[in-house]
Amino acid sequence: MDALEGVRVLDIATVIAGPWGAGILADFGAEVIKVEMPGRGDSFRAMGPLKDGVSIRWPSMGRNKKSITLDFHYEEGKKLFLELVSKSDVIIENFRTGTLEKWGLGMDVLRKANPDIIVTHVTGYGQTGPYAHLAGLGTPLQAFSGMTYMTGYPDRPPVSPPFALADYIAGLNAVIGTMMALYHRDSMKGKPQEVDVSLYEGIFRMEEAMIAQYDLFGTVRERSPMPSGASCPIGTFETKDSRYAIIVCSTNPVFEHLCDAMQRPDWLPKYAKAKDRLADPKPIMDAVTAWVASMTYDELKKCCDKSGVPVSSIYSMKDIFEDPQYAARNDIVEVPCEEFGSVKMPAVFPVLSETPGKIKWAGPKLGSYNNEIYGNLLGKTEEELAALQKNGII
Ligand SMILES: CC(C)(COP(=O)(O)OP(=O)(O)OC[C@H]1O[C@@H](n2cnc3c(N)ncnc32)[C@H](O)[C@@H]1OP(=O)(O)O)[C@@H](O)C(=O)NCCC(=O)NCCS
Repeated sequence: MDALEGVRVLDIATVIAGPWGAGILADFGAEVIKVEMPGRGDSFRAMGPLKDGVSIRWPSMGRNKKSITLDFHYEEGKKLFLELVSKSDVIIENFRTGTLEKWGLGMDVLRKANPDIIVTHVTGYGQTGPYAHLAGLGTPLQAFSGMTYMTGYPDRPPVSPPFALADYIAGLNAVIGTMMALYHRDSMKGKPQEVDVSLYEGIFRMEEAMIAQYDLFGTVRERSPMPSGASCPIGTFETKDSRYAIIVCSTNPVFEHLCDAMQRPDWLPKYAKAKDRLADPKPIMDAVTAWVASMTYDELKKCCDKSGVPVSSIYSMKDIFEDPQYAARNDIVEVPCEEFGSVKMPAVFPVLSETPGKIKWAGPKLGSYNNEIYGNLLGKTEEELAALQKNGII
């Protein structure tokens, strides 16, 4: 049995945030019906990198989902959709605020079709406020969240992350909110809810230190290549063989372990507490820099591991593919797919002991489940399906 067996989700979202969240539910056994624009599909299907004109990310993003086509612009499309709503538990949508209402599919209509439906909205700025109606994508919204301002070096322009971090964090929050709403509805016999997820608030929720810092000290956290002001030592240190290692002593016991690894017990009386290290960080940072530079990365790693100091070199994707920890955890799985024969993708995560989730199939072809969903679930005949298709409704 799967953790989410019996839960049916309509994924009418596009691009990353909403669909990726829906994909996590699919990994754990929810029946996720991906509703896509006829002929075109989710614009994610065309997003690079491409191989022979096909998105290499679609097999992972679309995995475990059932793709059907349906155009919300048509009355008949809306009617079909409401039939699906009546048989589902959750809708995940990420149209701009007001778009579903514009199509005559506002909450009142959805609730009429299914009073128990849970609706998870993903938007740039949330469902309320002066920006609610604006278009949003992850990278600009990460800038709005305050994170981009703090990322990079103080003497250079801020940098955005190398992938759509805000979207994925919004996707996670869509999952969390949806699961809480399902628990509240089904286990607590509570009212079905709407879940309101924006692209910026998932990141903002993590900025606890910086919010308090500005509130209490009036200090704006400026760019620094490492989190500053909380730990010492902290940083990217270069080894003798020109590799970069990250060492962070976030807690006092870890600093004690570092003293052990560096054979510097003399530091302890003065620097055992973080506040004393932070008051005078330079001697420690200089000593750690010189210590790391005196060893190869393998020597450093051995020494840190022996004393219990967390350390890692900075991994590239090649390093990940070659690492025994990733291999032992089966973090990379090869999944057959029509487009490429097979493609590697991240395994199901998190790992559940009794219902671990699985990848049953890679992202399906556009509309490849039309017959199953419209035929078997909604009971449409072959003739009806052919007419819907001919008229561009599905
Ligand atoms: C992504 C975004 C910027 C796209 O903006 P947009 O193209 O103006 O689209 P809207 O949200 O108004 O949605 C309407 C469009 O959805 C598209 N669409 C997708 N699936 C459709 C379907 N099954 N049926 C009908 N239209 C569909 C149509 O192109 C439609 O445009 P049209 O009515 O002008 O033909 C916008 O949807 C948005 O801000 N979403 C919230 C934030 C978000 O999740 N962004 C993506 C993060 S990864």
